[in-house]
Amino acid sequence: MPAPPVRRVEAVPLHRVVGLLARGGPLGLVEEVGRRARGAVARLELGPFRPLLVTHPDHLRYVLRDGAENYVRGAAMWDALGRLTGRGIAGEGPGWLASRDIVRRGMSSGYVQQSGAGIAAAVEQGVEELAGLARRQPVDAVAQMTRLVHRVIDPVFFGSRIGVEECDRLGTEVATALGALLWRMAMPSVPHWVPMPGDRSFLRATRRINATLLPVIEAARREDATGGTDLMSGLLRGSGADGGPLDDTQVSQDIVALFVAGSESSALTLTWTWAVLARHPAVMAAVRAEADQVLAGGPPRPEHARKLVFTQQVMAEVMRLYSMAWAVPRVARKDDHVGGVPVPAGTTLVVSPYLTHRLEEFWPDPLRFDPHRFDRPAVRARHPMAYLPFGDGAHQCVGQAFFAMESVLVLATVLSRYDVRVSGDPRPRLAVALPPRGRVGLTLTPRTR
Ligand code: HEM
Repeated sequence: MPAPPVRRVEAVPLHRVVGLLARGGPLGLVEEVGRRARGAVARLELGPFRPLLVTHPDHLRYVLRDGAENYVRGAAMWDALGRLTGRGIAGEGPGWLASRDIVRRGMSSGYVQQSGAGIAAAVEQGVEELAGLARRQPVDAVAQMTRLVHRVIDPVFFGSRIGVEECDRLGTEVATALGALLWRMAMPSVPHWVPMPGDRSFLRATRRINATLLPVIEAARREDATGGTDLMSGLLRGSGADGGPLDDTQVSQDIVALFVAGSESSALTLTWTWAVLARHPAVMAAVRAEADQVLAGGPPRPEHARKLVFTQQVMAEVMRLYSMAWAVPRVARKDDHVGGVPVPAGTTLVVSPYLTHRLEEFWPDPLRFDPHRFDRPAVRARHPMAYLPFGDGAHQCVGQAFFAMESVLVLATVLSRYDVRVSGDPRPRLAVALPPRGRVGLTLTPRTR
């Protein structure tokens, strides 16, 4: 395996961490550390916890690809998450590989094309529902983008077995359980038998998740309804690491993992897209012009997605600046070096697409929103690892093709039919993803032509 190029380490001692936190809050701290390190490996010195922040594309190639065998999921975030998502698709090792195989087949771009008609129909229905609600008064953008995403997820994940209302309830419980795990993520050394805040709501939420999903899984198994192309059918048909079928708990945990991975990130990315377009009316007008030309006043269809080229570039640029997976943690199994910096076994490394996407060396004037950064020649000229909103390597996102189709169809359908107004001037805040601080309002009025 080729060694990554040597660069210096930027050590950030505790007193500076505290100072930066006080000035800019958690996101300000992360941004400032990234800015000062300028691609060097940065070591945050938080007492006994000394994670390395890795942002340079050469280093990312090493950690996520060439040297990936040594950098596995196992950091605090993954250990805590495992209580909710089990040892399948969100884990590591043989259980992960078996589930990944099943899910990757279920979400491949071939499959997404095949089920494109269902996705496009769900998008249209979701947009019309949204427009009905958002016509008279502003609606909460995050809540409504979540609902829209659930409408599209329902047939793809569940073969429409649970319905949109139930999908929304499941989403709320999953979010509650995830929020309740934040304490455990922040204090990984506390053993599981020691009670912590969040434990009760975690148990309540997981009980409700099981009460929703397990009967649906049992019914699907009883009816032998495994011929479907949805992910639940795929998981019921598939086999685990031991070659036998996945048990109901694992199927349920994989579904929850897919929900965790795909629902909030998609809904928040769409929310940021509206916020960004409102700040850039000329870009919004260009996306609309493309939608008018491609959809020609008709309903969205799957084949439109690849023709909406500028819209795809807008989405790519939104995901550069608002990378919902802002931190992707790994743990070193053995002693190693990254960029000349010693990495003792057990060290947590945090890959941060959010910071990589702001490196001046690869993204001149990085905070400027410019979809033309994704013109073909510009993409070809750039370091291939300078852009990774969906991660890279063995764990790269399996929902990429699905989100690519869903997101451009949502934008084109909305803008071809409605004028969009966004209230609030949202800024992101650091959480598991990057939700907006405060409420973002969305109003849709039918276009006058
Ligand atoms: C804007 C939307 C999304 C973003 C930004 C995103 C981002 C990511 C990233 C960065 C990873 C890599 C994590 C790692 O290396 O540990 C990942 C993995 C994953 N994503 Fe996504 N994702 C999105 C949408 C989706 C959707 C819609 C689905 C489901 C259909 C999904 C399912 C997954 C799964 C299952 C994994 C784990 C893959 C594995 O470990 O093998 N994602 N995603």
